[in-house]
Amino acid sequence: MKKRYFFSQASEIQEHLFLIREVGGRSVGAIRQHGNIRLLLNYCPHAGAPICKGVLTPALLCGPDQTLALDPLRQQLRCPWHGWEFDLESGRPAFESKMRLAFLAHELEGEEVFVWINRLSE
Ligand code: FES
Repeated sequence: MKKRYFFSQASEIQEHLFLIREVGGRSVGAIRQHGNIRLLLNYCPHAGAPICKGVLTPALLCGPDQTLALDPLRQQLRCPWHGWEFDLESGRPAFESKMRLAFLAHELEGEEVFVWINRLSE
């Protein structure tokens, strides 16, 4: 069963840098993307690495003429253990797979950010 937990003040969550907290027995990361707050489990779907400690890079765009360019509007998160890259918008890896980053629902109440999460022990 999901429960709502206080995560942080909204002003603590920044662009380009994960804020990582233990919430409900789980490690959770939060980041801003173009001003919007996103929260996800700090857990790589491949083998469980702390994915929010990975490196953020611009995503690659493939143009109609097959040229590659950096997309400044989209970011990828590279896992610190095996280097798999996940699109931070969709949660999908850079290759065909059913694995996804686990984004979490959250709510803002004034300046306070709350996250909905399944307790690990439930
Ligand atoms: S644990 Fe993340 S790529 Fe292997």
